[in-house]
Amino acid sequence: MPVISFANAKGGAGKTTAALLLATELAHQGFRVTVIDGDPQRWISQWSEISGPIRNIEVVSEVTIASLQCHLREMAPRTDYFIIDLAGARDALVTTAIGLSDHVMIPVQGSAMDAKGAAQILDLLSFLKDKANLNIAHSVVLTRVTSMVTTKALLTIKGLLAARGVHVLDTPIGERIAFKEIFEIGGTLHTLDPMKVSNVDKARENAGAFAKEVLRLMPVKITRSVASRLFGLGRNAA
Ligand SMILES: Nc1ncnc2c1ncn2[C@@H]1O[C@H](COP(=O)(O)OP(=O)(O)O)[C@@H](O)[C@H]1O
Ligand SMILES: [Mg+2]
Repeated sequence: MPVISFANAKGGAGKTTAALLLATELAHQGFRVTVIDGDPQRWISQWSEISGPIRNIEVVSEVTIASLQCHLREMAPRTDYFIIDLAGARDALVTTAIGLSDHVMIPVQGSAMDAKGAAQILDLLSFLKDKANLNIAHSVVLTRVTSMVTTKALLTIKGLLAARGVHVLDTPIGERIAFKEIFEIGGTLHTLDPMKVSNVDKARENAGAFAKEVLRLMPVKITRSVASRLFGLGRNAA
């Protein structure tokens, strides 16, 4: 059961939105998803409270450094994908969650502030690799992309990241009202009323393509590696 966390040391980067889109799309496709709300601001937990039960999704709230690993272990038998939403920080919980992840998604908007928050997470990943020999796969996902964000600006960001050897997802997450509305109304893109919210079909298409690309990035051997970390199996034995 791959563990995917969403991290960017700055708030407002689009982490929670991207995490919820991925969770709800995977659940829609039939995967059992456990969303771990690692942000003390509890955005995902609040979404869950207003949504009520949603098929294939469980939300775990009030997560601490001490409890995180227990939640993963406890939920593992009934989870296909773990998604961890993190605070806009570079603190001990963020570091712990990243250390337990198979893949770290780093949402980045086209602003300099964001790039700085993303760089802090990239530095943390390098640190874990150098000091703890933990090589954690990671990708930047461009978010809140509008037709106003020029191709040139996107290419500049991609170029800068490529120079650091950072993988960037092919599917950017667009700026869409529907992505905001699911937090206001609750539910998922699939329960939003297309008569009340504009371009729901385009939003579904975008989120679906994002989830599909993420699914392609999660090979089975990664699943084994997280099992070995959680259950204390040797890496070679896994
Ligand atoms: N793709 C998007 N389309 C529209 N609004 C978005 C999108 N991504 C984020 N937002 C809005 O931007 C704000 C910050 O996004 P959020 O996902 O909470 O970021 P973070 O979790 O990194 O702090 C929220 O008001 C959210 O609704
Ligand atoms: Mg958030």
